[in-house]
Amino acid sequence: MDFKKASAYIERLYEKRKLTKKQYIETTELKEFGTVVDDDVARMLQVLITLVRPRKILEIGTSVGFSTVSMAKVIKQYGGKIVTVEIDRDVARQAVKNFEREGVKEQIEVRIGDARAIISSMNEEFDLIFQDVGDKKLYGEMLEDYIRVLKPGGVLLAEDTLFPVFDFGSDFSDLTQMCEALDIFNKKIADCPQFESTLLPIGDGLTVAVKRIC
Ligand SMILES: C[S@@+](CC[C@H](N)C(=O)[O-])C[C@H]1O[C@@H](n2cnc3c(N)ncnc32)[C@H](O)[C@@H]1O
Repeated sequence: MDFKKASAYIERLYEKRKLTKKQYIETTELKEFGTVVDDDVARMLQVLITLVRPRKILEIGTSVGFSTVSMAKVIKQYGGKIVTVEIDRDVARQAVKNFEREGVKEQIEVRIGDARAIISSMNEEFDLIFQDVGDKKLYGEMLEDYIRVLKPGGVLLAEDTLFPVFDFGSDFSDLTQMCEALDIFNKKIADCPQFESTLLPIGDGLTVAVKRIC
């Protein structure tokens, strides 16, 4: 299959949707922030949330909140809640402004700080976790904590997991470390007996893993 052609065709089918990445970024005042998910990943998040109906979602890596808003628009329909974690205070402030603008502020709680510290001391449980944090070492390092706070039958989603097969060129040497960290995570999740999982070739790679009930 020609993935470029397929992807262009799919985007044409969905181009009339209201909340696109392009519009979202254009209406965000802050211009310096971590990249946000592609439209196909935002749609997949919405489809999975419609299917699973999670009451409580944990997102790691808010940036200006495109993925958060995409998820919140769905959970607003049935009354769920999102806890989203962001280390950068300025970016988090912009995300909150965007949540107000998009009418989903009530559905979202932003926790500012290092996800390592915040999640390792968490005592709550979640129905769905979306991992999209800039520091890719966290993916593998935090896996035990994600398992601890994820309910049986809950879903773990992780973005950028196809980085290890991307050709970034020699100018991006820091990306080598990211790719190594993601490869470690990918192998861990594929071999983890607690999850039924796969890796979808959308966005920059989206891992979908369901925590087994027993
Ligand atoms: C790829 S962006 C998230 C994009 C967002 N999920 C979206 O699609 O709209 C990654 C974010 O992770 C944040 N980040 C990096 N290291 C972090 C850490 N240790 N704890 C919490 N957030 C972190 C960065 O500041 C950045 O805003």
